[in-house]
Amino acid sequence: MADKQAPRDSLTSSHGTQPDDDDRARRGGRHGGAGWVAAAALAVVWLASVTSSVSQSSSRTGQSSQRGSDQAAPPAVFTPAHRNVADAVRDFLGVRPAAVQPIAFPHNVHIANRLGCTDYCHAGAAVGPVAGLPSVRTCMICHGSIATDRPEVKKVAAYLDRGEDISWQRVYGYPRSAHVRFNHAPHVRAGVECATCHGDVAHRTVATRSTDLTMGTCVGCHRAKNAPVDCLTCHF
Ligand code: HEC
Ligand code: HEC
Ligand code: HEC
Ligand code: HEC
Repeated sequence: MADKQAPRDSLTSSHGTQPDDDDRARRGGRHGGAGWVAAAALAVVWLASVTSSVSQSSSRTGQSSQRGSDQAAPPAVFTPAHRNVADAVRDFLGVRPAAVQPIAFPHNVHIANRLGCTDYCHAGAAVGPVAGLPSVRTCMICHGSIATDRPEVKKVAAYLDRGEDISWQRVYGYPRSAHVRFNHAPHVRAGVECATCHGDVAHRTVATRSTDLTMGTCVGCHRAKNAPVDCLTCHF
């Protein structure tokens, strides 16, 4: 599928900034001592983050999947800046806002209609590293003729008419700075269920992050199943 690579690409572009911000925040933190020194350091961090000329999407997780029309233009030059202090703090603490999807896609309705997870929408999961998110054309395979009178389906058709893709937001994923390399296919081959890592999506409407896929989760199961646990299995 043509858009298979898109989520990872956008993840990459919105995370190039992370290490510098963390570094800077930690360095700020070491100025412990007198309260005013810490305050001054914070002020410097704050100034650095708000005066930079180019702001950019700063969510830790690369929320917008692709070509989102509501997204700011990509920055022309590299900048480690956050849009504002609150964003910088959230990013440092690793707080991720929940995804807000442009279409209220009901997973449950489709799965009840016998559409499999990897049939059209996440076909990449069965064959390679990236599961993929469906393009508007994939939806229109069916919705060119099915349920065309429903409001949410009309929104889908309108995307195609405008020649625009649906800007799905990422639900899972890691900041680039964690240098995590994940690969779906070996898990599917080994019979690990989608639900083990993504929860009961079959009974949900939009996907929500139900599982915290931390390193502990990965390594724990790898140990239990005799899958490789050396660092380079999962990191680059
Ligand atoms: C393989 C066929 C198929 C594909 C592909 C498909 N759908 Fe559906 N969709 C259905 C069927 C069948 C229904 C149930 C229709 C009904 O209730 O009569 C449905 C229902 C819906 C509904 C609920 C409509 C309502 O309000 O009751 C939405 C929204 C929707 N689809 C969006 C999408 C989007 C977005 C995509 C692409 C990511 C997509 N669908 C891809 C077959 C499909
Ligand atoms: C062993 C755990 C695991 C299993 C099993 C698994 N996934 Fe994933 N999935 C992940 C991780 C981790 C990510 C984020 C990967 C990344 O960004 O590189 C992800 C990302 C995704 C995404 C992109 C969603 C988003 O918002 O980022 C989709 C779609 C997806 N998986 C679908 C599936 C499907 C369908 C299956 C079953 C065929 C499946 N996954 C099985 C761990 C898993
Ligand atoms: C529920 C169990 C389970 C979980 C959770 C899990 N894995 Fe796996 N993983 C496996 C199994 C089983 C294999 C297949 C090993 C094989 O093919 O011999 C595998 C294989 C892999 C491989 C391919 C290894 C290779 O070189 O053959 C990578 C990469 C990987 N996992 C990364 C991850 C990451 C990153 C996570 C956490 C997001 C994760 N896994 C979570 C069970 C799991
Ligand atoms: C089976 C997969 C797997 C293996 C093996 C693994 N890691 Fe990880 N590691 C992860 C995942 C996934 C994350 C991201 C977790 C998160 O962000 O919550 C991570 C995060 C990290 C981080 C934090 C990175 C950051 O910036 O957030 C460090 C450091 C790290 N791993 C080091 C190691 C080292 C050292 C080894 C070898 C001893 C190792 N890892 C082996 C999956 C793995």
